[in-house]
Amino acid sequence: MQNQVALKKDIKEKRELINMMMDRFLPRKDDYPKEIHKAMRYTLFAGGKRFRPYLTILCFHLFKKKLNDEVIKAASAIEFLHTYTLIHDDLPEIDNDDYRRGKKTCHVMFGSDIALLAGDALLIEAFNLVNNLETAADLKINMINEMAILCGERGLIAGQMMDIISEGQNVTKKTVEFIHINKTAKLLQLCTKYGAMLGDASEAEVKKMEDFGKKLGLAFQITDDILDIEGSEKSLGKTIGKDIEEKKVTYPSVYGLDKAKQLAEKNVKDALKILNSYGERSILLKELTLYLLSRKS
Ligand code: IPE
Ligand code: IPE
Ligand code: MG
Ligand code: MG
Ligand code: MG
Repeated sequence: MQNQVALKKDIKEKRELINMMMDRFLPRKDDYPKEIHKAMRYTLFAGGKRFRPYLTILCFHLFKKKLNDEVIKAASAIEFLHTYTLIHDDLPEIDNDDYRRGKKTCHVMFGSDIALLAGDALLIEAFNLVNNLETAADLKINMINEMAILCGERGLIAGQMMDIISEGQNVTKKTVEFIHINKTAKLLQLCTKYGAMLGDASEAEVKKMEDFGKKLGLAFQITDDILDIEGSEKSLGKTIGKDIEEKKVTYPSVYGLDKAKQLAEKNVKDALKILNSYGERSILLKELTLYLLSRKS
């Protein structure tokens, strides 16, 4: 309970830092041509838990005590990239969703043409912001490479691809795992890796954090699937029941709801185990990991 309160307070504080950094880095919303900046900022600042940037910061703290601007920049870059995936995921050609972060989706507000460009621009700004880090050049190059590999057609896009073409299909357990690891877990792996890399962690520690991100990421997407069935639209800020409507391949559709819940628990447990060796330093990160099983948004 005490840790839950501490987590809530800390995430609120860090959210402010992340929002300020993102705001500082992007052009003003009235800059010419204002349509693009407005659309980018609209979904970016519509709300959102900031789970990924916060995860990046907590992973950094496993290795270093004092937070710095470079970590906040890297965390913000991931939120840019994440928001691009949401804008494109919601397009009529992909998931066709009208609500996101409690507001109308980007394409409903601005049209698909502008939403497409807003997503493209956020993806590019993600790389641009990592490139702006004031860190050793080789670290920066590695970070850019990780982003490209985990989020490109070998990663997130492969997951989205399989998500689309599996609609209405009878797929294997291996396929649904592939979809979830790629479309969602890989971005969370990027967070855990960035935290470790910026914390000067050893190669073995970076690898360990990547494994942690994978378990956490899988649990994150399984709970997203569960919330699409059992969640509330008001707290989620998005339409529920869409997975069944669009015949999506999800953990509940492949395993059934009860087994999906068990698998979310198992992945959270395994993720927590990885953190055991960090002792006191991992208290908030453990709490964040546990929160996945009770999250409502
Ligand atoms: C939604 O992510 C997309 C998934 C990968 C399930 P979040 O649930 O983190 O959405 P925001 O950022 O809080 O809006
Ligand atoms: C999200 O999967 C994955 C990405 C956006 C890359 P979903 O399609 O399940 O996410 P929601 O439910 O629309 O947030
Ligand atoms: Mg989708
Ligand atoms: Mg979707
Ligand atoms: Mg979903």
